[in-house]
Amino acid sequence: MAKILGGITTSHIPAVGNAIQKELYDDPYWKPFFDGYPKVHQWIKDNKPDYCINIYNDHGLGFFLDRMPTFAIGCANEYRNEDEGWGLPALDPFPGAPELSWHIAESMVADHFDLTTCQELAVDHGFVVPMQLFWPGAPHHPDMPKTVPISANTVQHPIPTLARALDFGKALGKALQSFPEDATVVILGTGGLSHQLDGARAGFINKEFDQYCLDNIVSNPEELTKITRMELVEKAGAQGTEFLMWMMMRGALGDNINEITRNYHIPISNTAAGTLLLECAA
Ligand code: DHB
Ligand code: FE
Repeated sequence: MAKILGGITTSHIPAVGNAIQKELYDDPYWKPFFDGYPKVHQWIKDNKPDYCINIYNDHGLGFFLDRMPTFAIGCANEYRNEDEGWGLPALDPFPGAPELSWHIAESMVADHFDLTTCQELAVDHGFVVPMQLFWPGAPHHPDMPKTVPISANTVQHPIPTLARALDFGKALGKALQSFPEDATVVILGTGGLSHQLDGARAGFINKEFDQYCLDNIVSNPEELTKITRMELVEKAGAQGTEFLMWMMMRGALGDNINEITRNYHIPISNTAAGTLLLECAA
């Protein structure tokens, strides 16, 4: 059985990769953002998960508009990062865990979640920035877990509903229970919170709605399934739909969780940056 230790969410703003590269941790603009991470580092150090399931949304690197899986899972031995801005050096590949990926695919397809399986997948900032934030120096951090990328479509409508995202997480949690190896897992949900990068509302941020989502994702995620996809776009912004990743993560954790740390800061680049660490009770 793979035991879920907890779930961690974070925004995955590409400018963060640049700030890390330049070590801007104490810069006045960046400090309130980076201050959200030491407690996460301590928790990771204390728990050292064997596997990291990184639920993110690809932004056009691994998949493009011509072929857009609603849900996809990486089943590769490694995942290449390819620089897509800021002129940063591309990182070394992240270690994969095909044994866990295929187990999840088998179990979830049996549960009627028809994942696209990818034996090759380039991973973008949605996957990479959170890894750099949580395991500084990734992929060369000493406690680097093996990774399983799961991507959901937030780029091209129709996107999944919030209810489907939460149910996806529940099926993922069930899949982990039947993994034959005794192992520990952390689940990431990356992206969000409110932001819109384009159009007349570019720069749109909705603090009140973000706080509503932060509170309910901890204590009552079912409540959030009442939000329609169009409402999500309206209230969180066109790219705030990335909150679906948080719902997927949350569904896997079950009912018995403790909030370890939370951070919210606006804005970082165009985005309301939210970080949350939820631990599964023993
Ligand atoms: C930004 C945020 C994102 O989620 C993203 O994918 C790209 C850019 C931003 O705020 O700059
Ligand atoms: Fe994004």
